[in-house]
Amino acid sequence: MSLYPVGIIGTGKYVPERILTNQELEQMVDTNDEWIVTRTGIKERRMAAADQATSDLALHASRQAIEAAGLTAEDIDLIIVATITPDMFFPSTACLLQHKLGAKQAAAFDLSAACSGFIYGLATGSNMVASGMYKHVLVVGAESLSRITDYTDRNTCILFGDGAGAVVLGQVAEGRGFRSFELGADGSGGELLKVEGGGSRVPATEESLASRRHYIHMAGNEVFKFAVRIMGSAAEDALKKAGMSKEDIDLLVPHQANIRIIQSAMNRLNLSEDKAMINLHNYGNMSAASIPVALAEAVEQGRVNEGDCLVLVGFGGGLTWGASVLVW
Ligand code: UT7
Repeated sequence: MSLYPVGIIGTGKYVPERILTNQELEQMVDTNDEWIVTRTGIKERRMAAADQATSDLALHASRQAIEAAGLTAEDIDLIIVATITPDMFFPSTACLLQHKLGAKQAAAFDLSAACSGFIYGLATGSNMVASGMYKHVLVVGAESLSRITDYTDRNTCILFGDGAGAVVLGQVAEGRGFRSFELGADGSGGELLKVEGGGSRVPATEESLASRRHYIHMAGNEVFKFAVRIMGSAAEDALKKAGMSKEDIDLLVPHQANIRIIQSAMNRLNLSEDKAMINLHNYGNMSAASIPVALAEAVEQGRVNEGDCLVLVGFGGGLTWGASVLVW
């Protein structure tokens, strides 16, 4: 039961300055710019500086989102950080961020749903506002994937980058805001995309380090097939729940993993090039940060107007997926 219409009232983003190009990767592993661009669409990605951790990236994006919402940090009631690269096991990155922001009134927790984490966070946060429990929720997707990427593995190291995106959720005018969420998981595919070292099953040992189990391992092709199937169907299911159709979409903001995956979703949804926000050539796959950074850039570029119908859709490790329909 929703007391208020809830929507996004401020967006923000931050990417680190250091750019890692395809040409640099050519010097590190057996790959080439042409393969990377044609197979993924990625040209460059960002890397956090040695003294930057995920909460530092999140801080910049959050400050921007809070300012855009016309609020101060003390107006935030809850902080949700979606990440698979927290600063440390605990305290949560959300607590570290709460302190850095000076958001003294806010409760704070992290959420783990890999690349779908930001959509899971929106669903959680928006329902807390809709129920009247909180007024303003800060939802952040932030990742330092360079810290868990194996730069000797050409199958994965070309894909990932670092960054953070944030939104503030709050009450909006009648007729606007979130219309539906479609969340899902298939734990049977957990083995396809994982970092197994350092947890309670494979604690850190000299052996776990030597066998590189603290880095991302991925069965790329299997994840690719899953992604192509789920991106279109999750978006369609969310539209159906919202009582809307493909023709209503003004802008698709997809997870930025691979241009071929995005194009297949666009084909299924009958969308022309101008109806999808694509920035993966600049940043690669930033997991939970990809969708909020793309959304913040769409807003910056004036591609989102009042009354527009947006579909956000993502997929990732877990396996997980999530889609949302909202009216801006
Ligand atoms: O956020 C969710 C996380 N993950 C994803 O979304 C990833 C989904 N998967 C993908 O995007 C694609 O599967 C990849 C981009 C990872 C790989 O593309 P692919 O078209 O599925 O290639 P493939 O894995 O089938 O490999 C084709 C060939 C192989 O060579 P052989 O066995 O055919 O001789 C690979 O060894 O390409 C080779 N290859 C490379 N060659 C040059 C794999 N990586 C590279 C590379 N440079 N970096």
